[in-house]
Amino acid sequence: MVVEDDPIVRRSLVTCLQRLEIPVLAVSSCFQANEEQEKEPADLVITDMHLPDGNGMDLLKGFRKANPLLEVIIITGFGTIESAVEAMKLGASNYLLKPFTTSQVELAIAQIAHHKELREENAILKTELAAQVESSSLLSVSPEMGEVQKLIARVAPTNATILIEGESGTGKEVIARTIHEKSLRADKPYIKVNCAAVPENLLESEFFGHERGAFTGATMKREGRFELANGGTLLLDEITEISLPLQSKLLRVLQEHEFERVGGSRTMKVDVRIIATTNRKLTEAVAKGLFREDLYYRLHVVPIKVPRLAERQGEVEYLLNKFLEKFARQHNKAVPKVSAIALDQLAQYAWPGNVRELRNYAERAVILANGDGELSFSDIFPSHITPAQDAVFGDGKAFPTLGEVEKRLIYLALKSTAGNRNEAANLIGINVRTLRNKLKEYEGKIAGDDKAEVEDEEAAESVEK
Ligand SMILES: Nc1ncnc2c1ncn2[C@@H]1O[C@H](COP(=O)(O)OP(=O)(O)OP(=O)(O)O)[C@@H](O)[C@H]1O
Ligand SMILES: [Mg+2]
Repeated sequence: MVVEDDPIVRRSLVTCLQRLEIPVLAVSSCFQANEEQEKEPADLVITDMHLPDGNGMDLLKGFRKANPLLEVIIITGFGTIESAVEAMKLGASNYLLKPFTTSQVELAIAQIAHHKELREENAILKTELAAQVESSSLLSVSPEMGEVQKLIARVAPTNATILIEGESGTGKEVIARTIHEKSLRADKPYIKVNCAAVPENLLESEFFGHERGAFTGATMKREGRFELANGGTLLLDEITEISLPLQSKLLRVLQEHEFERVGGSRTMKVDVRIIATTNRKLTEAVAKGLFREDLYYRLHVVPIKVPRLAERQGEVEYLLNKFLEKFARQHNKAVPKVSAIALDQLAQYAWPGNVRELRNYAERAVILANGDGELSFSDIFPSHITPAQDAVFGDGKAFPTLGEVEKRLIYLALKSTAGNRNEAANLIGINVRTLRNKLKEYEGKIAGDDKAEVEDEEAAESVEK
């Protein structure tokens, strides 16, 4: 937003911003500026110091209060240079001294874009660092996971592309990180793209970066994740979520190790080791035409199938104790003991959210433990699930399959959260995407299945509403 009462200066600023392909709105008073900012907040405000109904400084103060990250450039005459200094102290991003040239405006904006990028990069690095500190090493005792550990040790030192397949919460990301840490690239960058979390239209630029002006808002060139990962490892998390056109671009990087930035013509070469994860069956996505077969084979060089927690012998008890110790240390509490009966019951449970679910319950149990006595099954499970155990485990006559228990648990979670998918997913420790996929799977089955499914269908419908 440009706030300037002098029509000539105003027009020249607007032209300049339009040339940079930055959407711009121009007003000539504080009143209008406030009104517009309330309607549709701008990310950058360029304001004159002297306005007919107030001054730029007050605008700056008000705007920054509402949005601390708002960028403000103050326009000032030679006589008011002190107030420009004052404005910078109040958090203005930059100032323009009248008369100014187009290139000075461009420079001021480029600096802001650069800062903004650094800030965002910094935020990403911080969360990655936090995840690293938080990241536990891959714990396991079961023979099933022993096989996975052996495979990791064998493939880590190679440059082979790895595809990690497993249900939500089975530890795919922990495995990916372990592979990087045991590889010859361990001291090189480890970069992650969550393909499901980045909006479709931004994913290509996230992967490959963009040149300045590649699209609206691309005020600066930006390096993509492939460039950032050069020499190291790139984790493509939830790979099934990428669109077919982007899949072909990805295939090219895997085959030729080269790509172009969005809006660029220069071919970039990179040396990146790819690890991809998926919690859906990739072969199914291929069969449905949602995933390129050639890309599948490229990724499938070394597949690692991560077993569900319920399929790992002896692991529930082992991991539970490890997590109880960890969280007890973290929350400065005594490590709770778990009763033998509870351990037995836990070993029977289906663990649809796998290790993540176990970990969440362990933390909760540590926080709620009152210090003495052993933990029972219901101490570990949230109370709104315990009374409904029957609904999940069945009436005890016939032993349910894991699939049935999982399904019942998901519908139960949905019922207890009045159909809120996010909360339901949280409750049982899976991500909402997995929950959605499961529901789709169940709904697909209903048509050909017996009457027992009708109740579930109704539940599913009420969820949709
Ligand atoms: N074997 C393990 N040892 C220690 N911690 C584990 C293990 N497996 C999983 N975890 C922990 O469980 C949580 C979920 O693991 P992770 O994020 O790797 O799962 P995921 O398979 O990537 O799940 P999603 O498909 O939902 O992304 C994390 O907090 C992770 O630290
Ligand atoms: Mg994951």
